[in-house]
Amino acid sequence: MLSLRITSQTQVTGVIGHPISHSLSPLMHNRVFEYLDLDWVYLPFDVAPQNLEEAIKGMRGLGIRGLNVTIPHKERVIPFLDEVSPEAETIEAVNTILNEEGKLIGYNTDVPGFVRPLKDFEEKLRGKKAVILGAGGASRAVIYALLKHFDLNQISVINRTLEKAERLAERFRGEGCEIRAFGLTEENLEEQVPSASLVVNCTSVGMFPEVNGCVIKGKRLLKKGQIVYDLVYNPLETRLLKLAKERGAIPIPGLEMLLQQGAESFKIWTGVQMPLDSIREELRFELEEILLAGHQHGVRRQ
Ligand code: ATR
Repeated sequence: MLSLRITSQTQVTGVIGHPISHSLSPLMHNRVFEYLDLDWVYLPFDVAPQNLEEAIKGMRGLGIRGLNVTIPHKERVIPFLDEVSPEAETIEAVNTILNEEGKLIGYNTDVPGFVRPLKDFEEKLRGKKAVILGAGGASRAVIYALLKHFDLNQISVINRTLEKAERLAERFRGEGCEIRAFGLTEENLEEQVPSASLVVNCTSVGMFPEVNGCVIKGKRLLKKGQIVYDLVYNPLETRLLKLAKERGAIPIPGLEMLLQQGAESFKIWTGVQMPLDSIREELRFELEEILLAGHQHGVRRQ
């Protein structure tokens, strides 16, 4: 249990979203503040959409040092900020705000958070193909990250609603990598998935409570050595990741992106590197306990 020692010097951070009860970030950040003996605290704030502007004014007024921003505010918060990083501007989503003496600066740490666990495979991905499952906000950040940080030669976006995949492909076209859009059909999966070096699930399929869901039904589509990255982290091991493991593919769990984006936000606010390697197992254990308790109570954590 967190031992609270709030002082007049305590720096305040937190997360705004609606609803917010699902967020795992308070546990992560407070645990790290405690581990590093920093006089900081991280609080959840449930902010209804109509109160967003007031909440951001309040951040400035109260001198709150940093905020994470989650669903449904990531896009709508932008007009209320003083500055936005180029990444956040391009993908039109801010998930981290820094209050620098009253100047509010928006960042997107989902991009570096997604990239970090893939960096070890940079060479393996050079000149290869990636399949992106889904075409929502997460896919937009993932495609941006792949184009910016890796040297792929093709990205195939596969989505239930074909028009959304087409719009996304159109948006990033001409960035030196072929981007193609497909509907989510068995034939398209069969044609696209086996030849991909990287498969990223950006849909919510497989998330609690529908834990048996899996976009890729037949496990023969997954291949040995392929990297299979699932952005879903509840449960920690999704059906897709299990299939990937059985096939000898390299699974990357969504929890890793969650931790890495959190570490990036932490660094922006505190200037301190989150000691992920020392604290990863402890965090994983505690997050799993929270998720399992949520499962018993039917709580859906995204
Ligand atoms: P996020 O911001 O997390 O990306 P989103 O923008 O709501 O969330 O996108 C969710 C993605 O999951 C979409 O690609 C959605 O497909 P549609 O564009 O067709 O809606 C996909 N998705 C959600 N439920 C799905 C399901 N049961 N089967 C297939 N795809 C699904």
